[in-house]
Amino acid sequence: MQINEIYNENCLDTMKRMPDNFLDLTVTSPPYDNLRTYKGFIFPFEEIAKELYRVTKIGGVVVWVVGDATIKGSETGTSFRQALFFMECGFRLHDTMIYHKSTPPLTHKRYEQHFEYMFIFSKGKPKSFNAIFISKTYKDSRLNKPYRREKNGDIDTGFVSDSKSKIKGNIWKVFAGGGASDRIASKHPAIFPEQLANDHIISWSNEGDLVFDPFMGSGTTAKMAILNKRNYIGSEISSEYCEIIKKRLEQIPLKLDL
Ligand SMILES: C[S@@+](CC[C@H](N)C(=O)[O-])C[C@H]1O[C@@H](n2cnc3c(N)ncnc32)[C@H](O)[C@@H]1O
Repeated sequence: MQINEIYNENCLDTMKRMPDNFLDLTVTSPPYDNLRTYKGFIFPFEEIAKELYRVTKIGGVVVWVVGDATIKGSETGTSFRQALFFMECGFRLHDTMIYHKSTPPLTHKRYEQHFEYMFIFSKGKPKSFNAIFISKTYKDSRLNKPYRREKNGDIDTGFVSDSKSKIKGNIWKVFAGGGASDRIASKHPAIFPEQLANDHIISWSNEGDLVFDPFMGSGTTAKMAILNKRNYIGSEISSEYCEIIKKRLEQIPLKLDL
């Protein structure tokens, strides 16, 4: 099977040609709840989840970015059902992360929808975790000092922080609109931000690893894999979107020799 290729086909067909334990990482957002029609699609979810388990390496990770549509006033719960099915397939639910996005206001009978889930499934314990650090702002507001809680719940302000940074939290606020640095991607109706793909690729894989996106869309995962010196494979069922991916990847200034 050729790597660093986009296959214009149903992702199930691509995965069927992959050997067992092949992929280090999958970063994807599926076409959930018929929210968009794209150019027509096929989504046999359970077959796809089972195949993803087979082709993921031991210690490999699947990042599944998904939300729920609201139909007749009720959220569908599709995201939870999918998460539980991935676990039935054998994956661990390593983390339920939140993609916090800014969306235009709507008028309806509930609070504004501001997030999607980013389920982190792993086949056994993740073999790679390169944590992203941010600066520490964890301070006692009165004393302007770092603090921690004792086991009994008391606040210990005598605690001396040993570093100026801490691991980033699992709610990622990422600007959703225009998340791509190239214009060609915006011809696709549902791209996810480059930053989002970038940060997951860095977190759950290492240079030279193989990253898959079964629903490649405009090619965000492939682009960020290339820029981070990872190999990639993608499936995209629409030939029109494959053209976008081709043009988008050609625009990457420096194609790295992997
Ligand atoms: C949510 S979009 C992905 C967008 C992508 N994350 C990006 O940043 O551009 C889902 C994509 O999956 C494609 N698709 C739907 N069913 C598919 C299937 N069975 N195999 C491969 N691609 C499929 C659709 O055509 C659509 O482009």
